[in-house]
Amino acid sequence: MSPETIRKDFKIFENRDIAYLDSGATSQRPYQVLQAVEDYYNKNNANPHRGTYDLSIDSTAEYDKARAKVAKFINAKRPEEIVFTKNATEALNLVANSYGLEHLEEGDSVVISIMEHHSNLVPWQKVTKIKKAKLEYMYINDNYEITDEEIHKKITEKTKIVSITEISNVLGVKTPLEKIIKRAHDVGAIVIVDGAQSTPHMKVDVQKMDADFFVFSGHKLMSPMGIGVLYGKYDLLDKMTPFLMGGDMIEYVQEQETTFAKPPTKFEAGTQNIGGAVGLAAAIDYLEKIGMDNVEQIENELLDYAKSELSKLDFVEIYAPKDNKNQIGVLSFNIKGVHPHDTATILSSVGVCVRAGDHCAQPLIHYLNVPATCRASMYIYNTKADIDRLVLGLNKANDMFKKWRKD
Ligand code: ALA
Repeated sequence: MSPETIRKDFKIFENRDIAYLDSGATSQRPYQVLQAVEDYYNKNNANPHRGTYDLSIDSTAEYDKARAKVAKFINAKRPEEIVFTKNATEALNLVANSYGLEHLEEGDSVVISIMEHHSNLVPWQKVTKIKKAKLEYMYINDNYEITDEEIHKKITEKTKIVSITEISNVLGVKTPLEKIIKRAHDVGAIVIVDGAQSTPHMKVDVQKMDADFFVFSGHKLMSPMGIGVLYGKYDLLDKMTPFLMGGDMIEYVQEQETTFAKPPTKFEAGTQNIGGAVGLAAAIDYLEKIGMDNVEQIENELLDYAKSELSKLDFVEIYAPKDNKNQIGVLSFNIKGVHPHDTATILSSVGVCVRAGDHCAQPLIHYLNVPATCRASMYIYNTKADIDRLVLGLNKANDMFKKWRKD
């Protein structure tokens, strides 16, 4: 299936004449996903796990089906290893506050990378401060790579937790997960993988990668907003204290004491986003019909094209590794001497949507020594025409700003 054919499933492009290059922030949704959500509300909506009547039982069945679909999609051993959350941020906070607070001791270290999104950084600042543990960073070299030497230097016998993104939301760079996970397990640490920017774009196999926890957001994967996933190895989830307390996550509640349900229910306090879970299941069906290998291929071709077209513009600076094999669907750049917010505003005037700023990754932006970047992030519905429009907009911005620019 070509991106041109796929694009027809996304009605937003009939309503808006845009080159949408901000799927790293949130993706668009095909009509099949929106239809599945509407069907759920029209045919099966009730509060699951609460009612003994058929409608509630049917709603529970839809929720369970969605969980099983997610488990299969990322190759979890069993559906009980899938906890539905609001998004990847909530899932990361859950692990930091539940696993992190319980297992860290004074003098231990938590290792993350300089490329982390704030959601995989700020929660670790909080728990390491409380537990008097150290927060260590793996830095990148000039080609945006975490080297073997850096992995071995930072992940040591003191390390109890490694929390790492699979793909940087700013640079699109893939981290060397296999090496990081092996080193972490060799020293007895557990690993959390932030799959927010990878899961929509490539095949994920949590058993093969041997992640202890893995998180992603539905809204970057064509689902409604407000649904996310925490995968955890069952034994780890079983031993953890719940993060949020409330309805449904309990076994028995007495006046002063409570015992909790088994995973995943013990982590799903209160009424859940069943429509979101149903939408996520439909989005997975949609992706599986295209095939994750094809998804990757479509995006790789487009990234190659974007990099080659933008490289022809001598007024543009690109922040990307030389080898495209280590990069997926995201390209950060600036017009030299022009603030990215100004560039993005001019791009918007020709209908090009990119994100400009620090992309919720301020330590990385400081490390790169740039004020901010423009980021074009692509998905399966983007075509070469979108990139051509980006180039047109960049030329327009350059023409406007060149007289004031300090080169
Ligand atoms: N995390 C999203 C991004 O990178 C919002 O833009």
